[in-house]
Amino acid sequence: MGTFWDRHMVPRIIRACCGAPGIMDLRAQLVPRARGDVFEIGCGGGFNQQFYDGTAITSFAGIDPSVKLLEFARDEAERKGWKADIRAGVGEDIPFASASFDTVVCTYTLCSVKDQQQVLGELKRILRPGGTLLFLEHGRAPDAPVQRWQDRIEPLWKPIAGGCHLTRPITASVRAAGFDVQPLGQAYMPKSPRWAGWMEWGAATR
Ligand SMILES: C[S@@+](CC[C@H](N)C(=O)[O-])C[C@H]1O[C@@H](n2cnc3c(N)ncnc32)[C@H](O)[C@@H]1O
Repeated sequence: MGTFWDRHMVPRIIRACCGAPGIMDLRAQLVPRARGDVFEIGCGGGFNQQFYDGTAITSFAGIDPSVKLLEFARDEAERKGWKADIRAGVGEDIPFASASFDTVVCTYTLCSVKDQQQVLGELKRILRPGGTLLFLEHGRAPDAPVQRWQDRIEPLWKPIAGGCHLTRPITASVRAAGFDVQPLGQAYMPKSPRWAGWMEWGAATR
């Protein structure tokens, strides 16, 4: 459902922001680590699919609540020529059985979900023991002046950008959900405003 803005404008904004060259470079570092049966949360847009190593993956599934973004993800699966189980759904209630996947990929999605800890609990549930959550997210910056701007801008930004939060901690939230995190990197994205540009990425084991 959602408003006209959410259904038609937010997908366009997401396509424009999430396809930026610096972001695509980070995807290219992280996504090829996926192995075995893979699940991608917030797979709408389909930007990650080109980076999966088809020789390392045995199946691919994903969910997203946005009808428009799911269309892009399905088009991308067709272009890649692989069989992908792409469904409408939310991360708070993932429509897959427990211990179904070897890898979960989560990029730029924990900022937008309604309940971050519930979603992380669901990601843990669907991973097999020893499975890996690969994450790449923007969120709470480490510097106080940037944090102040994030606090000011977030209430204006959220309704424009599909509920995207600027102030959510990233690695700390993944750890709080009980994952064992191996940080892979953190940085401000060049050519991006610092309030939106703090990135953390890593591999977390269940
Ligand atoms: C900023 S976009 C990122 C899209 C994609 N993950 C990427 O890396 O380009 C945020 C995504 O989260 C999805 N999303 C929002 N709420 C969600 C929820 N509760 N569960 C799963 N995905 C959600 C949106 O529909 C959107 O596709």
